[in-house]
This record gives sequence, structure tokens and C-alpha cells, in this order.
Amino acid sequence: MRRPPVIAIDGPAGTGKTTSAREVARRLGFAYLDSGALYRAIGLSVLRAGIGDPDTLAFAKLLNELPIRAETGIGVFRVWVGETDVTEDLRDPQVAAIASKLAVRSDVRRRIDAWLRELSRLGPSVVEGRDIGTTVFPDAPLKIFMTADIEERARRRLLDLRRHGIETSLPEVVRQIGERDTRDEERKEAPLRRASDAILIDTTRLEFEAQVRLIVAAWYRHVRKTRRWCYAAEQWSIRSVARVLWGFHVEGVENVPTAGGVILACNHKSYLDPPLVGSVLPREIYFLAKRELFRIPVISGWMRSRNVVPIDRGGVDRTALAKAMGLLAQGNALLLFPEGTRIRRPGLGAPREGIAMLAARARVPVIPALIQGSWHGERGRRLGGGIHLRFGPRVAIPEVAEGRQGRILFPEIARLIMEAIGDLANAEESARISV
Ligand code: C5P
Repeated sequence: MRRPPVIAIDGPAGTGKTTSAREVARRLGFAYLDSGALYRAIGLSVLRAGIGDPDTLAFAKLLNELPIRAETGIGVFRVWVGETDVTEDLRDPQVAAIASKLAVRSDVRRRIDAWLRELSRLGPSVVEGRDIGTTVFPDAPLKIFMTADIEERARRRLLDLRRHGIETSLPEVVRQIGERDTRDEERKEAPLRRASDAILIDTTRLEFEAQVRLIVAAWYRHVRKTRRWCYAAEQWSIRSVARVLWGFHVEGVENVPTAGGVILACNHKSYLDPPLVGSVLPREIYFLAKRELFRIPVISGWMRSRNVVPIDRGGVDRTALAKAMGLLAQGNALLLFPEGTRIRRPGLGAPREGIAMLAARARVPVIPALIQGSWHGERGRRLGGGIHLRFGPRVAIPEVAEGRQGRILFPEIARLIMEAIGDLANAEESARISV
């Protein structure tokens, strides 16, 4: 299975790595992993256990048996030692100093690298540290290296410490940061340095919002580049033709996750819907289509190469569900039409349950999409405002139990998804749309 993508953000202390990494993760819907917090958690445990010398059996035992647990979420990283959430305790400069001393050790680094690799398997993530792009994830698709003048970094660190009630002085923080920089840069194991393919961002005079935007824009550039050129060229052609012929207009594309499995749930009016939806996204997406459409060999070959997967019936049957699950588990985006077929009258149709089952079992985000006017487009006409496509925020899908108990909830989940699609119509339009 493909490993979910990682954005690696490295750099010395005080460059704004943590706040930027967290915000980038939030905007992209990625998990946030703070490797420094893991080094600090080991430092804190050593302090609390009163181990003075790490070259002892006591330290080896502690490292092996350390009950450290990390909770990752979108823009969130919390660390537990045993049953205690120690996230706040990790800020202490004393803990940072011990962490930096322990970070020169290969046994400590190996342990933390393994944790990070394990955590990164859960989904796309932004990982922050010193050696993420060089050692932990050397194949990360996007690497950022942040720097800033030491005085500026110390000033920021001082403000941050004061916000958390820790009193110290600027010269003292400059000294501490300088010491840590030297140790990080000069150590033998995974020293702090910029990977040759990392983008350098100097944050000395850069505002926070600009830092975040630079990284998010670099990520979108990377995602667009993952499309095959023929796919991207067709997307451009479809968009351009649709704009000229039908005044094709799109909103809310930023709601669609750029990585990982995702279901795009769209209402269905016309054969134009799949190419139109596919044409506006920065990543390639997958479609399911009736096997009958694959009868003509040339067209069949083209459809397959454009990620159209044949299914045996119009509706979503068992084999179709299995195929769809497979695509989502591999981290793909899949366009589904919950109504199962084109609805040739105004308004939306009733949802089928297949989409609910997929959403509940695959546990991937479901993004609602509403397309309007494409039916007229298919018939060569341009009515009213043309064709509108709107993507909405992720639908909150309740967790359901396996088996029959869970199945009881499928009609409700299907209704939730259809309702989210209906909600994308503006007030005047929704008067005409009844779910
Ligand atoms: O980033 P933060 O200041 O929380 O990291 C604490 C210490 O952990 C750093 O001073 C550094 O020595 C060490 N560290 C490291 N490699 C990482 C992350 C942190 O050596 N990837």
C-alpha cells in the first residue's frame, strides 16, 4: 500500500516551525506530528526518573519500556506518558535542554524515528523537526527548511515562554538557543541541515500568514504535478470548453482534501457531471461507470486510462463496493452519485444506501458537491446562470458498529449526505430543491 504523503518541515528552534506546521496541517486537513515533543517527552521522563547518566542500564530500560503515547489530529499533537497528558510540561526550557542532549544518541533517535514512521501511516501528515526531510522521511514529497536570525528567534521564544508563565531574559534565551543550534548542527547522528531538495523559507521578516501560504501553495503545486500530463491537459480543455459554452462556474474546491482517500458525493443530472467534476480538482480522481459503456474497445481503453472503473450494474452492488473500498484504502479520491442515476427533473433524488455503507466502512472524508444546470448543458442549451458546481465542507459521518447493528444507520447516513448536498444550494435555489 502507498504510504500517505508527508510534508517535512525542518529548521532550528524559534523559526516559527511549530505554529506554521500546525496551521498548514489544519488548512490541508492533515495530521500534525511534532517530533521535538517526542524528544522532550523522553527528556521529561529522564528528569522525573532522576537518571543522571544516560549511559546506564537504567536509561536503556527506561527507553525500552517508556509508555509514551501520542495523539495526532488535524493540527493537534498531544503526548502522554502513562496515563498523564504531559503536553504542557514539555515546554519547560530545562526539558528542552535535556531533550537536545539526548537527541545526539542513536538509540533515542532510532526509537523516535520508528514512532514517527508508524504514526505517519495513519494518514497524510505534516511532520516537524530537525532531520525529517533528511533522515526520517527522505522521500517526503514536500520538504521545507525554515531559518531566521538568532535574535529574532530568541525574541519569539521569549514571548512564547512568557505566554506560558515561564520567566527568563532575552540574553539567556539567545544563549540557550545558540547552544542547542550548535549541538543539533554538529552531532554525528542526523545533524540539523537543509535537505538538498528542501524549499528554504527565511522567516526573519516574514509574517505568519505569508509563511503558511507559501507552504500551502508549494503543496498545491506538488499535488497538481502528480497528475499525468494527458489527464491535466484534458481537465484544462474540459474546463475551458465548459466555461465558454455554459459559463461553467466552480466554488469551494479548497474543501476537497488534496491527499488520502476521499468520497466526493455529487448529485447527478447529466453525463457531463463526471468530466466536469473531475476537471476542476488539483488531483486525479476515480469514477465508477456501468460496464455497458466499456463495449467499444477504443473508448473502453481511454476510460480505463482516465480512472473510470467498470461495475456490473448501474447501482452500487457488492463487487462495486469492494472495488470502491479498495480505491479508497489506497488513498484515492472517488466520485460517487448517491442518487445512483441521473435525475431528470428539478430537485434531488432519494439517496441509495451504498454510499452510506462505503462512508461508514472506509472511514474517509465525504465531501458533498452540488451541480446545477448540467442537464441543460448536455442538451446543448445554456439556461439561466449556466452550470454551477459547488463543493461543501466535510459531512460529519457518525461511527457505526460492524454488522447488522451498524447497517440500521445506513439510511440515516445516506440522508445526511444528501442533505449536505442540498444545503449547498443558496436560499433561493433551495426553495426549488427538495431532498
Ligand atoms: O523542536 P523542539 O525544540 O521541541 O525540539 C527539542 C529538541 O529535540 C531539539 O533541541 C533537538 O535537539 C531535538 N530534536 C531533534 N530532532 C528532531 C526534533 C527535535 O534532534 N527531529
